[in-house]
Amino acid sequence: MNNKGADIHFEAGNSEGHGGLFISLEGVETSGKTTQADLLVSWLKTRGYDVLQTREPGGSSVSELIRSLLLRVDQDSDENITPQAETLLFAASRAQLVHNVIRPALQSGTVVVCDRYIDSSLAYQGFGLGIPLADIWDINLFATGNLMPDLTFVLGRGSKLFSADEKPADDRIEARSKEFHSRVRRGYHSLAQRFSDRIVLVDTRGGVRRTAQYIRGIVGERLNDELVRS
Ligand code: TYD
Repeated sequence: MNNKGADIHFEAGNSEGHGGLFISLEGVETSGKTTQADLLVSWLKTRGYDVLQTREPGGSSVSELIRSLLLRVDQDSDENITPQAETLLFAASRAQLVHNVIRPALQSGTVVVCDRYIDSSLAYQGFGLGIPLADIWDINLFATGNLMPDLTFVLGRGSKLFSADEKPADDRIEARSKEFHSRVRRGYHSLAQRFSDRIVLVDTRGGVRRTAQYIRGIVGERLNDELVRS
């Protein structure tokens, strides 16, 4: 499979004209994105913004059911989820989350901070498993009604944190080989280059606080928040 040739057309979420801002955080398991999502959400709240924090897969009741199906390490099962089924299940979970949670929030002017979104499917199922990127793209545009984030942070540039550590895997996808996770990491770099108008690659080596400040600076600018430098 050759993902390099895939012709991907990108449309930002705000092309819909909603009043909110859609931010996603991405990276491999140990990149610290969930900590950064928490810090960003707290900061936005202290600045008086309406904020919705959510995660993928999950974030709605149906999506959480799909999550348990996708991530369980099922020792007894004699049937593996195929890469195609996995891609569709992630997209199905996303469809529910967008329809029931994300789009209504954006339409009411809320800032949405989502832990993982479409780039996870491109990185894990595309670069990791070999599903053609163009197929993932089409499936996900259908699933989300073309909703893309306005801004995406991929965490872990150049950092040790960017590589999976040696702790036992918590779920079915984390349990995959080192080679799989290396392809995912390279995939994120490639996506960041390809979508440089949307994706910011974040160097986390300065530590949690500095990383949080860096992310705030960019989000603040995007929100035209004049208080950001005070
Ligand atoms: P999770 O427990 O949420 O871990 P993390 O803290 O790393 O986000 O597990 C989500 C797993 O699902 C993670 O291994 C990445 C994977 N994933 C995909 O493979 N494709 C996707 O589209 C999404 C959203 C997640």
